[in-house]
Amino acid sequence: MPDNILISLLHNDHYVSGQIISSRLGITRAAVWKKISSLRKKGYSIKAVPSKGYRLISAPELDRDFLLTHVGGGLWKEIIVHDSVESTNNLALSLSAEGSLASGTALIADLQTGGKGRLGRRWISPAGMNIYMSLIIQPDLEPKELTMLTVLAGVSSVTALSKICSIPISIKWPNDLMISDKKLGGILTEVRADSDGISVAVIGIGININMCSKNFPEEIKDLATSIRVAAGISYSRNEIICQILRDFEQWYDILKKEGRGKLLDAWRKYSSTLGRTVMATVGQTSVSGIAEDINDSGMLLLRTPSGQQVTISAGDITLLR
Ligand code: BTN
Repeated sequence: MPDNILISLLHNDHYVSGQIISSRLGITRAAVWKKISSLRKKGYSIKAVPSKGYRLISAPELDRDFLLTHVGGGLWKEIIVHDSVESTNNLALSLSAEGSLASGTALIADLQTGGKGRLGRRWISPAGMNIYMSLIIQPDLEPKELTMLTVLAGVSSVTALSKICSIPISIKWPNDLMISDKKLGGILTEVRADSDGISVAVIGIGININMCSKNFPEEIKDLATSIRVAAGISYSRNEIICQILRDFEQWYDILKKEGRGKLLDAWRKYSSTLGRTVMATVGQTSVSGIAEDINDSGMLLLRTPSGQQVTISAGDITLLR
């Protein structure tokens, strides 16, 4: 019997009696005790009080059963957790090419040896502190709606983090997660297309959660931050991942049922780009102007000093004022 049935019975706000667990699982009280012991060996902290029963105090970080118990049943069909991978996006792309990953899978790693950022950059991915997660979705969307998956991941990450920690987090175009002009996280969406069009979208999310200032390499020390650096305390990665997956599912539903309007409005609400003077760099070319809006495809609309409107579809921006 999978552990997640037992985990779902154990609440972290009240005790559940051994009797209830034994009748729900159809096993003896002695077997319940054995199962509780085996969960404890896996790192679960479970309090047992005679006459009250059992209560879940904490689960091990990045625990597949815990995560699936808390978010499974709808969009999310499977959660895979690895200690170490080269890149969760690369693994997700190659497994889905073999046909061995279902749509609605979240692939998570504790460490990436070759984490990838946008525009061929490296994504610093030390063990034991951050979130490195790739969401595998076979989008039930029109091809023109696909860029919205990146917007969706950015908005879901911000709404989720805002529910858990009280730090203002914003989105810098296209989808950098920011705390006061320092980078907290980013999204890298890659698609695997076959002859019929897009078959799988892999949405990679990297967020610095419990990294301390000393963990940042020299070259990004002044540009990057983490939730811990900003808030002064550590957070549970399990809890943040659960919330991101729940919010992603809700926004995905809104996108499918109501189109992109609400999602784009949420992006605008959290944007730290709109209204600012920015410099957009695409390859060797740069253009400066006021970031006026994003269009229906998530492209940035800049008003240059000469009054011309320029549409930026890719690249990087620097916030000037
Ligand atoms: C960016 O440059 O802002 C995007 C960073 C995306 C990093 C994540 S971590 C999980 C996934 N696997 C990767 O190799 N990259 C993405």
